[in-house]
Amino acid sequence: MKTINHVSEMIEISKDYGGKSVGFVPTMGALHAGHLSLVKEARKQNDIVVVSVFVNPAQFGPREDFSAYPRMIDKDQKLLEGENVDYMFSPETSEMYPKDFSTSIHVGNLTDYLCGYYRPGHFDGVVLVVNKLFNIVKPTRAYFGQKDAQQFRVLKSMVCDLNMNVEMIEMPIVREADGLALSSRNMYLSPEERKEAPILHLAIKYAVDQIKLGRKDAYKIKREAMNKLGIYPDIKIQYFEIVDEKTLVPVSKITSKVIVAAAIFLGKTRLIDNEIVNV
Ligand code: PAJ
Repeated sequence: MKTINHVSEMIEISKDYGGKSVGFVPTMGALHAGHLSLVKEARKQNDIVVVSVFVNPAQFGPREDFSAYPRMIDKDQKLLEGENVDYMFSPETSEMYPKDFSTSIHVGNLTDYLCGYYRPGHFDGVVLVVNKLFNIVKPTRAYFGQKDAQQFRVLKSMVCDLNMNVEMIEMPIVREADGLALSSRNMYLSPEERKEAPILHLAIKYAVDQIKLGRKDAYKIKREAMNKLGIYPDIKIQYFEIVDEKTLVPVSKITSKVIVAAAIFLGKTRLIDNEIVNV
């Protein structure tokens, strides 16, 4: 594996892949088995695999955890070497966002609800950096996790609207044995909080099971699921929604494919999770 720290060097490489297919996995590092599931799929489907590790300041709000976000580049490098990755691209912030940087991109509609509502500007930062990364790496296919279901749909919309020639692939959520979705942020949890964390997935699962039983009343199902989260006083629900899978607009009656999605604070740590249900 070759480690690339400069944008110009990556651009030089991507100028000529010799007609080979390129699978790309953008990450912010602190890699875990969830990230690696994307890397493995990229390895299976492509001749060349590029993984970026870049903690993107543009997607963090002023009171969010940009400076505290876990950085462990040596460990990440070893994990990616173990997956037979060809290039790890890990640029400096000053090269990605030089002083005179002044461009912004906004994807509308899909960013109005869920995380987009509670983290204003977050998805502008995500689409900006992924757009830049696509231009630098020039992948054939790009791999994302359903863990960030809204992110995937927002990025797919950008790719479609801007006629970008990248195949977008969504991979299932990798979970711990107790159901907690793997996340780089799980390492913030205290032992006590870690014990409580699986309730997030249990509450989502409850809603999913109710929908599978044929219930259509989104509001009531939502209330019941939220009550399950209420058993731990240190959990604060940011949102618990049942939204249309395509538009991400909350539904009152469940008649088509939906996403049950939630965000909670467990102490200071923000956790998200979701399940897609096909009715
Ligand atoms: P990051 O949080 O590092 O996640 C990188 C990719 O790994 C995302 O596509 C995310 O959905 C996926 N992922 C995370 N946890 C997962 C899990 N438990 N199972 C399956 N996939 C999982 O998402 C970002 O970084 C950034 O926003 C980025 C797209 C890199 C832009 O900066």
